[in-house]
Amino acid sequence: LRVLSVASECVPLIKTGGLADVVGALPSALAAQGVKVTTLLPGYPQVMAAMGGGRALRRIDDLFGGPARLQRGEVAGLDIVAIDAPHLFARPGNPYLTQQGGEWADNGVRFAALGAIAALVATGGVRNIGFDLVHAHDWQTGLAPAYLRYAAKRVPSVFTVHNLAFQGKFPLSLFPLLGLPAEALSVQGVEYFGTTGFLKAGLWYADRITTVSPTYAAEIRTPEMGMGLDGLLRGRAGAVSGILNGIDAANWDPARDPLLPANFSATDPAPRAANKAALQRRLGLDEDAEALLFGFVGRLTWQKGVDLILGALGTMLGQGAQLAVLGSGDAPLEQDCRAAAWANPGRVGAEIGYDEALARQIYGGADVVLVPSRFEPCGLAQLCALRYGALPLVAHVGGLSDSVIDANEMALAEGLGTGLHFSPVGQEMLEAAILRAAALWRDKPSFTRLQANALRCDVSWTRSAGRYAALYRDAIAQAA
Ligand code: ADP
Ligand code: GLC
Repeated sequence: LRVLSVASECVPLIKTGGLADVVGALPSALAAQGVKVTTLLPGYPQVMAAMGGGRALRRIDDLFGGPARLQRGEVAGLDIVAIDAPHLFARPGNPYLTQQGGEWADNGVRFAALGAIAALVATGGVRNIGFDLVHAHDWQTGLAPAYLRYAAKRVPSVFTVHNLAFQGKFPLSLFPLLGLPAEALSVQGVEYFGTTGFLKAGLWYADRITTVSPTYAAEIRTPEMGMGLDGLLRGRAGAVSGILNGIDAANWDPARDPLLPANFSATDPAPRAANKAALQRRLGLDEDAEALLFGFVGRLTWQKGVDLILGALGTMLGQGAQLAVLGSGDAPLEQDCRAAAWANPGRVGAEIGYDEALARQIYGGADVVLVPSRFEPCGLAQLCALRYGALPLVAHVGGLSDSVIDANEMALAEGLGTGLHFSPVGQEMLEAAILRAAALWRDKPSFTRLQANALRCDVSWTRSAGRYAALYRDAIAQAA
């Protein structure tokens, strides 16, 4: 079975969020299921450099205003096809934003090109390469299922929504440039509330829709969480499913991770204490093994509930706890995190930026990792926390509720639980959960038991890769 995976980000080449982790990790997990994946990416400078240019597959004279070459190469075990189109993609830095932080004005055609090339490559546009199915991820690839629908050869598509909040809406004046038939400019097509809607197009045209957790798949059918697309999603209910993300368990392995000061495992968790001490030193926190250390790693945005964490700071500090924050995002939230650290020397540490090593040191050294997201399609932070033995304290939403087992009274009595849930998402219930965590911390046998449970959780891709493989086979059989 041959699948063309299409995305705008892929670890280890380019990443702005969990999407890149998923796109980078799924191919090797699928290989074990008999699925061969080729990944189609925009030829950003980072991608072309990592491929060493790659081997030429085909030239295209005019791809939305300039020439393009399709290049193939292998990077970190991934079979990559890159669209080397300098007029669209040879721009340094963030894949979507200018140096000043605004969207590139031509993002519509840049990602239309990605969708169009996906359909071209999948339907025989490159000699000697064929595909049974296209798997497209997020709005940047939403036009791929549309182009496929109007292609001469029938190749089915799966469209995965990683975050319904990012919808890829462009002016209707973009539509005539796309080369899609006029009939596609309709509510039964790419038209979305008076815009050319890329996410909408993916949801409309794909043979199957997936989201990254079963709970998010259910949530987005509701007006409260459907972000304007719940009606369409309810209409396509039979085609929608949720498959929980995993993480690359070989890359995320506390027993081998070279970025951890001390390696440890489920069978030998004791060295973990050295990571906590190192983390406290690194962030200027008091080196105190007895202080409950909360951590946060993620984008500093409204979605992630960072403001709730800062609002609950008094409750944490009142319990003698500490807080370690790593993230970047909205400037006011960055400033609030810095201010919290300045105001609480020795108790709060904040690092603003992106730092892979520090992230791993927080997962491998903090006692509890906070994930108070207002919505969370899946979330990878709580999976990394489980794998590295930090108890996730999570909002009871989306993939957070699907991946963490709440240590409620009955769970504790039965020796179960891998973390803590709170609901509804807000200040009061977060504070209540922080108090529950503090009580558990004082009850060392229970806390140790929960940590052992967390370390034994299977957060790898194995189960979910099997689900994707089954879904692909099903979609192909139905399209035949
Ligand atoms: P998102 O909504 O941002 O995609 P996820 O939880 O799915 O959230 O994935 C984010 C991933 O990126 C996690 O693996 C997290 O550890 C990592 N990450 C986020 N922010 C940072 C940062 N500032 N430094 C290092 N890693 C980060
Ligand atoms: C998105 C979501 C996040 C999910 C990630 C990977 O960025 O916000 O919840 O884990 O995609 O699927």
